[in-house]
Amino acid sequence: LMTIASRPVLYGEPVIDRGLEEWSREWISADLDDVDFRITITSGAVDAVERLLAQALMRDDAVALEDPCFLASIHTVRLGGYRAVPVPVDAEGMTVDGLRSALEAGVRAVICTPRAQNPTGASLTASRAAELRAVLADHPYVLIIEDDHFSMLSQRHYESLIGPAHRRFALVRSVSKFLGPDMCLAIAATDVETAERLAMRLSPGTTWVSHLLQRLALTQLTDEAVMAEVAAAAAHYAERNSAFAARLRADGIDATPSDGMSLWVEFPQPARTIADRLMRRGWLARTGDDFALDEKAEPSHHLRLTVHDLSDGEAESLVADLVAAGR
Ligand SMILES: Cc1ncc(COP(=O)(O)O)c(C=O)c1O
Repeated sequence: LMTIASRPVLYGEPVIDRGLEEWSREWISADLDDVDFRITITSGAVDAVERLLAQALMRDDAVALEDPCFLASIHTVRLGGYRAVPVPVDAEGMTVDGLRSALEAGVRAVICTPRAQNPTGASLTASRAAELRAVLADHPYVLIIEDDHFSMLSQRHYESLIGPAHRRFALVRSVSKFLGPDMCLAIAATDVETAERLAMRLSPGTTWVSHLLQRLALTQLTDEAVMAEVAAAAAHYAERNSAFAARLRADGIDATPSDGMSLWVEFPQPARTIADRLMRRGWLARTGDDFALDEKAEPSHHLRLTVHDLSDGEAESLVADLVAAGR
C-alpha cells in the first residue's frame, strides 16, 4: 500500500491510471478483434450497467434481458424505469428467436452475459454468437452490454455479440469474482461515443474510481503469485462443480456442470417444493423463480446450487438430501 499511495492524485489529472488502462487494453484486445474501443473504469459491473443504460436510454425505453436473469440487472432496469423484454436462455446462451423478437419489440439495449450466465451457467457457443451477431447487424445503434463477470475464472472461450461494424457497445469486466467484490472496480471497453457519454455520467457522481483502488488492482493483476491463485480458484470451481454434478448423476439426478460459481439443476417437481424440503434439512437454495423476469411465469423446476465450498462429506449429505427431497 505504501508504494501504491506514494504519489497523490489531484484534481484535473487523467481519471484512469495509465498502467491499468494499458493492461486492460491488452487484455480486452485479445477478445475484441477488429473493434476500436476505449477503456473506462467504473465502480464495478453493476455501476457500469446502470450508467451505460442511463447515458443511452430514456424512461420507458425497452431493454433486452436474459431470462432467467442476474438479479442486480433486473433491479437496475426496474429502478431506472426501463421496460425489461425477456430473451430466453438455453445451454448456448441467448436464443436467436428471443433476441430477434426483442429487437422487433424495439429494445434500445441488450444486456448479455457471454460466459457463466447467472443463474444458468450457460456460455455462448461460437455458432450461437455468430447467429446473434447476424441478427444484431441490422441494429448497429442498439447498445450491446456484455457483462463478462466470470472472465478470468471462466473455462470457456470468450464469444461476443459485438461485431466489427456495431456502433454502440460495452464489454464490462468486473474484478469482483477474482480479486473480490470489495475492490469495487470494473473495466469497460466501449465505442468512443459511449466512452464519452459514460465519462459524463461518472463526473458529477463518483467523479472517478480512486487511483488507490486502480493501482491496487493493477498491482494484483500483474503479480504472478496472485494470478496463480486466480488460476487455482478457476480450477477449484470447475473441479468441485463437476464432481458434484457427477455425484448427482450417480444418484439419478440429471446434472451437467456448466461455467460459473454454481450449478443449475432441473427437477421433475417445482423447485420451490424441493427448496422447502431442503430448508428443513438445513440447506438454503435459490429456486429459478427468483431469477424469472415474468413474476407470473410457470413455477421453475430449477435450483441454483452453490456447492464449491462443501467438503466431500457435506456434498454427499446434500446429494442424499436432494434425492430425498425429490421423492
Ligand atoms: C452476472 C454478474 N454480473 C456482475 C456481478 C457483480 O459485479 P460487481 O460486483 O462488479 O458489481 C455479478 C456478481 O455476482 C454477476 O453474477
